[in-house]
Amino acid sequence: MRPELAEAARILGRARRVVVLTGAGVSAESGVPTFRGEQGLWKTYRPEQLATPQAFSGNPELVWEWYQHRQSVVSSCAPNPAHHALAELEGRPGSITLITQNVDGLHRRAGSENVLELHGNIFRARCTREGGVRQFEGKLKCECGAWLRPHIVWFGEQLDPVILEGAFSAARRAEVFLAVGTSSLVAPANLLAGMAAQAGATVIEVNLAPTPLTVEADFFLQGPAGEVLPRLLAKDPPP
Ligand code: OAD
Repeated sequence: MRPELAEAARILGRARRVVVLTGAGVSAESGVPTFRGEQGLWKTYRPEQLATPQAFSGNPELVWEWYQHRQSVVSSCAPNPAHHALAELEGRPGSITLITQNVDGLHRRAGSENVLELHGNIFRARCTREGGVRQFEGKLKCECGAWLRPHIVWFGEQLDPVILEGAFSAARRAEVFLAVGTSSLVAPANLLAGMAAQAGATVIEVNLAPTPLTVEADFFLQGPAGEVLPRLLAKDPPP
């Protein structure tokens, strides 16, 4: 085991309050496209055409078509060893808060229960008139006659304040903050690691490539999440 990986694993193994933030990179090895980078979704589609309230009011069918396409992509993918390693973490003593920017639901499919989905979930829909949230079942309109929209935080929209406060308060209490597969470019999620560090947490980053967080992190573990996390979170890290 690389020495810094072994040291990070020891610190994690002793911590009782662990907060994890994941981004699209954690699902990349499952086959879910990330947003940025060579194969990223935002290279293929313009966000403002699809992921904004204006796009939806201009052409709700087109926006739904895109989300249904993404639902079918994600449905054909399975959680990978990174998701499973994080789900197993919940069985340890102490508190684990898993905060994700991902909308693919793969953490829950892997068995994680305590998940804060900052940006929503592509398998859920919300009534544009009444605000009620439900599982998406193929219908684009609510019983009340109004459009259902994807339960997703779009560009220019606020995050759910209750979920966000839950994430902030967990970060402020963290002993270890683990950021996995996120470009650390999108606020407010990218503020969480700094909050945790200010409150004294050890910050561990796992990513294929350096990000703006890397210089501030105590540990930068470079590599694919599906390989690094099972080692980092192994039940019996080296003494
Ligand atoms: P990005 O696509 O911006 O970044 C993905 C990150 O994962 C990059 O830093 C990659 O280097 C890294 N990565 C890719 N494959 C990896 C692997 N196998 N193992 C480890 N790391 C890997 O995705 P996010 O940071 O999640 O928001 O993007 C944040 C938000 O921007 C998304 O939630 C989305 C987007 O706009 C909304 O849609 C609201």
